[in-house]
Amino acid sequence: MKSAKTYITEHKQRFIDELIELLKIPSISANSAHKGDLIKTAEAVKVSLEKAGCQTVEICETPGYPIVYGEIVVDKNLPTILVYGHYDVQPPDPLDLWDSPPFEPVIKTTDIHPDGAIFARGSCDDKGQMYMHVKALEYMTSTDQLPCNVKFMIEGEEEVGSESLGWFVERNREKLANDVVLISDTGMIAPDVPSITTGLRGLSYVEVEVTGPNRDLHSGLYGGAVANPINVLTKMIASLHDENNHITIPGFYDDVEELSLEERAKMGEAPFSKDAYLKAIDIEDTYGEKGYTTNERNSIRPTLDVNGIWGGYIGEGAKTVIASQAFAKISMRLVPDQDWKKITDLFAKHFESIAPKGVRVKVTPHHGGQAYVTPIDSLEYKAAEKAYEATFGKTPIPQRSGGSIPIVALFEKELKSKTILMGFGLDSDAIHSPNEHFGIWNYLKGIETIPQFYHFFTEMSK
Ligand code: BES
Ligand code: MN
Ligand code: MN
Repeated sequence: MKSAKTYITEHKQRFIDELIELLKIPSISANSAHKGDLIKTAEAVKVSLEKAGCQTVEICETPGYPIVYGEIVVDKNLPTILVYGHYDVQPPDPLDLWDSPPFEPVIKTTDIHPDGAIFARGSCDDKGQMYMHVKALEYMTSTDQLPCNVKFMIEGEEEVGSESLGWFVERNREKLANDVVLISDTGMIAPDVPSITTGLRGLSYVEVEVTGPNRDLHSGLYGGAVANPINVLTKMIASLHDENNHITIPGFYDDVEELSLEERAKMGEAPFSKDAYLKAIDIEDTYGEKGYTTNERNSIRPTLDVNGIWGGYIGEGAKTVIASQAFAKISMRLVPDQDWKKITDLFAKHFESIAPKGVRVKVTPHHGGQAYVTPIDSLEYKAAEKAYEATFGKTPIPQRSGGSIPIVALFEKELKSKTILMGFGLDSDAIHSPNEHFGIWNYLKGIETIPQFYHFFTEMSK
């Protein structure tokens, strides 16, 4: 029987070349001009699943971008793994900060990736990590070692809120029935520190609009006598945090899950170098909520951040003007037990209530989702732990991540299954940023580890 290691060594170049082809298609879900590219990518994913041995693969139409669904049923009495991933990517902007074009993948070595990394938008998030599952399946089917049933569901709207996926899951509960959901769309602590993501934050994303006078005004003739929407907006935003960086929205923390000191101490055992953290992003010190460590601030604590802000004159030179309107996009990362719709309402009520007379405020909710946390004593987790032990020779560390994959909570609610998050990206891989990349070592290690999960999960389910 051929080992995954041997198979990967023999097919390594092809695995890399195939991923590179997928990365060339600019499947940017946020930009409707790329609709054709999303459809082309879905087609390419379909073909790859067929080649990897799926018995049936369909492109399922939705109100938005299509979902690629594939399956292999080995034996109805065996467990079923549902693999989820996304083929859409973030916009590459700002383009001038890329060292090579985002959709012309190149391989370069870095300090952390001595074996090389593929630089391209989507290489790590999530085409590269999704494709590890396709290649792991190819290995299992072509060497006759697939131990259980498998279903693939690869969507094209993750980066814009997965609206159609909720629609699809609600309508296809039976088709999607499974014993565990398996996802690679998160990260690991370091190449020599394998970790399994046990928590994700929820999200509420809103846009705010502050409107003052009915037209842009001369800032000399009117300045000082009318509320300037930009001044007002920035003041309102600044008031959303107090001097300890707690969020000031009434009721915001009401449902926040409080961790025990033991749990926090356990979390604190994960290796973390503050120096390396500061150096990697070139800042002098960290910043955040009083009373919490950096790792706590970006995993078990909720946040509020402005993601974009605009208004007024931003062209060349100076123009003396008081703009009629000012805008901002604001995200709130949420933790278990906070309800994203409730938080969105609390935000809107509070934001409207703090607006001074002389401006009007409009809050428009975008998307959101619930946080997720999974226990580490479950069969699913234990099977994942054994899989990493087999390929890394080390027990992986459970880690709660600050990012969000809102549909994970939905899988638990609608499909009643737990999710295992086997991420192989590194924080330094620059997902959503210019020069996103994915280590070739990480890519191949993922392909090697995934079949082990299939094996242990099937064995332990007996
Ligand atoms: N793969 C990421 C989420 C992620 C990355 C979680 C790293 C944990 C570690 C996903 O594609 C993503 O970017 N999600 C969005 C939310 C979505 C609703 C737009 C996010 O977290 O901003
Ligand atoms: Mn992702
Ligand atoms: Mn993403």
